[in-house]
Amino acid sequence: MTKIVAANFKTNHTKKTTKSYLESLEKKLLASDKIYIFPTPIALCENNFKHLKVGTQNAYPILNGAFTGEVGLESLKELDIKTILIGHSERRNILGESQKFCAEKFDFFAKEDFEIIYCVGEDISIREKGVENVKKFIKTQFENIPVQYPKLIIAYEPIWAIGSGMSASAEQIQQTHSFIKEISPAPVLYGGSVNIKNIAEILNIQEVDGVLVGSASLNIDSFYKIIQEARNK
Ligand code: PGA
Repeated sequence: MTKIVAANFKTNHTKKTTKSYLESLEKKLLASDKIYIFPTPIALCENNFKHLKVGTQNAYPILNGAFTGEVGLESLKELDIKTILIGHSERRNILGESQKFCAEKFDFFAKEDFEIIYCVGEDISIREKGVENVKKFIKTQFENIPVQYPKLIIAYEPIWAIGSGMSASAEQIQQTHSFIKEISPAPVLYGGSVNIKNIAEILNIQEVDGVLVGSASLNIDSFYKIIQEARNK
């Protein structure tokens, strides 16, 4: 079965470059591919591609209102966007989103029947204290999250592996994914310095249902190589 491949553009690519990226990628894809692209908010476009889904990196849990700088459900509905990333470590840590707020967002978008890619992952100080500590921490990131939600996809992204060029080891990924799979029946993606060199090894781990890719997704050729690896895994 083909594994899931998601691209998080973060604050990269413009409206124009996102448009040409999506149009070129769409032409290369097969009906069996499971691809999600999360463009930067200003580059969000109509989710009307045949073989890929456009999702939002963020949104405020409101239809519309006075939340300066935020995106509301009304805007997403107009673009037919039905997928959202919640709990990414950059939003938790840089933008100060608490577990309580992530859970509120989850609840709001679950009621709207969104597909939710929910991110969890520990920082280096927790990892250095050992596996049991990692498990204990990850458990706290599932507080008030309905882990049986049918449209849930979990992404395990150790913070120390994100953007560092150093992914977690196969053993660490296998161990943590197995633990997450005891918590939830949802597919579990791995994220954190996934690239064309390590993709085969990562996708060969049985507990890995796909990958969430940041930097290596920005270049369409490298992202397409990752997609090719995910086929028939
Ligand atoms: P990275 O980012 O692939 O650049 O490490 C992954 C992510 O944060 O989703």
